[in-house]
Amino acid sequence: MATSLFDQVRHLISEIEATTIESDEELEAFRVRFVGSRNVIKPLFNKIKDVTPELKKEYGKLLNEAKNKAETRYLEIKASKDKKGAGESIDLDLSAPGEPFPLGSHHPVSIVMNQIVDIFKRIGFTVVENREIEDEWHNFTALNTPEDHPARDMTDTYYLKNETEWMLRSQTSTVQVHVMENNKPPIRIISPGRVYRNETVSARSHCQFHQVEGLYVDEGVSFADMKQVLYYFAQELYGPDIKIRLRPSYFPFTEPSAEMDVYWGLKTEDDYRMTKGSGWLEIMGCGMVDPRVLELCGIDSEKYTGFAFGMGIERQAMRKYKINDIRLLFENDIRFLKQFVAAF
Ligand code: DAH
Repeated sequence: MATSLFDQVRHLISEIEATTIESDEELEAFRVRFVGSRNVIKPLFNKIKDVTPELKKEYGKLLNEAKNKAETRYLEIKASKDKKGAGESIDLDLSAPGEPFPLGSHHPVSIVMNQIVDIFKRIGFTVVENREIEDEWHNFTALNTPEDHPARDMTDTYYLKNETEWMLRSQTSTVQVHVMENNKPPIRIISPGRVYRNETVSARSHCQFHQVEGLYVDEGVSFADMKQVLYYFAQELYGPDIKIRLRPSYFPFTEPSAEMDVYWGLKTEDDYRMTKGSGWLEIMGCGMVDPRVLELCGIDSEKYTGFAFGMGIERQAMRKYKINDIRLLFENDIRFLKQFVAAF
């Protein structure tokens, strides 16, 4: 008797495991047979009294196993069917307006960089890019800054593997060298890109930033040409009424060298702060390419002359959008970047 009770329960367990359940009807049939109030396992619980005392425990265990298996299987299949059903029964209104896509924004540095590049493209400059890991020749030596020249300090950078041969470029002026080494004049290029400096990070300076470099080499290029090109640029970027001035300066690779300022105004407190009380904003370095640089790059300095300029993009972006901390431009905080959705 006991054996046959055990057999009955085992038989039910294998049936519970083997039953295929696909349709809702099959699931309902399974529920009625194994889980419902009149399921087939229940009467076997009453038979416990017929089992010999020493086997009672084992029999109860087996019955509970059958009961739990049935319930688990039922609940699992029901849950997966409910899930599928929920998908199928979505209230689909094809005429409803679509979910809005959150609009991304250009990074302020990209916005300003594109504006600068566009302005120069309109007057015949071609865009050239080059590497960020640079050798000593392109970053310093060919730019008339030989080893031990104190001007290397102005643009000190990060060196690779404790040697001075390879470094992260500290200025986009390196691209001038690449272009002159590989092209014959006339050359008219601009080069936007990332540069690095051995700087302590603060609200005003960073160890990485972006520059746009410009170079124009041809026969008879003069300082007056440079001034007119840069004046045109300033009018395009800051408006037609902008005033410019060139101040004498020093760069190892230009002679004469200048710094260009635009007149910003001196009305508000911000104007005072941004222009250090002068009303003028410095926007770039520039000058006539030193004949020695032309020669170092394989260009006949008797025949050709040229001008070059370089500006920091973060600076222009900070001025344009009144950003008072350069670090904001590198943190990628979405709350900051979101403000530029409408800018272009
Ligand atoms: N490379 C200079 C700097 O990083 C900027 C510069 C000045 C670039 C004068 C030029 C130039 O091409 O002619 O400070």
